[in-house]
Amino acid sequence: MAKLIMFNWKMNPSSVQEAGVLAQASDHEHVVVVPPFPYLLVAGDMLTRAQLGAQDVFWENPPERKGSFTGEVSASQLKDMNVKYVIVGHSERRHKLHESDEVIAKKLRTAFDAGFISVLCVGETKEERAAGKTEEVITRQIAADLSLMAGVSIPSDRILLAYEPVWAIGTGDPETPAGAAKTIGFIRSVLRSQISVTPQVLYGGSVTGDNVNDFLKLPEIDGVLVGGASLKTDEIEKMLALL
Ligand code: PGA
Repeated sequence: MAKLIMFNWKMNPSSVQEAGVLAQASDHEHVVVVPPFPYLLVAGDMLTRAQLGAQDVFWENPPERKGSFTGEVSASQLKDMNVKYVIVGHSERRHKLHESDEVIAKKLRTAFDAGFISVLCVGETKEERAAGKTEEVITRQIAADLSLMAGVSIPSDRILLAYEPVWAIGTGDPETPAGAAKTIGFIRSVLRSQISVTPQVLYGGSVTGDNVNDFLKLPEIDGVLVGGASLKTDEIEKMLALL
């Protein structure tokens, strides 16, 4: 199966015009472009081959779009923007915005019920890694975040996992490709035993145009989730050249 590259723009760029330029540069059939909410429409208009993703979704999806939840964005609204993928549980939401596993579980269920491909991010902090707790943390996150999916049969193309060690995100210090492959193998074994599905698993954390191939060439790694480098057209070009 072809490898997938997801471009997570986070809270960037700072103009509609730049968003259009980035989306155009990223338009490739094996790419998912994940802009912030205000740029979904402009990015979506530019894409002819790439799919559109959202960085988050609210856990209530009220009927008829009548939602009294100031500041939140619903699954129905994202569907209307042609969004196909939804990231849930990104470490910046877990650690900087204190999103709990309980909230993540609700968002995952809402995203699944609305028909999106959910992208669940898991990974350990620097301290947890130093304490040798990587596997324990990942096992706990997967169990808690999938807790509302009990009894639901999940087709393996409706969920993606992303292994994103927190210490590697935005630091310029990626996990080694071999280390990422090993942890991804572990994630697969946990998923097999917990929900009997083996979805694709991506690696994320300081992936650039120069190191992306070291990850993509390993059979265990189904693709990459890219933050900072997805905002630079020269980096985008280098990454897409490998697909
Ligand atoms: P980074 O971010 O590529 O800037 O490390 C990855 C992510 O947060 O998904």
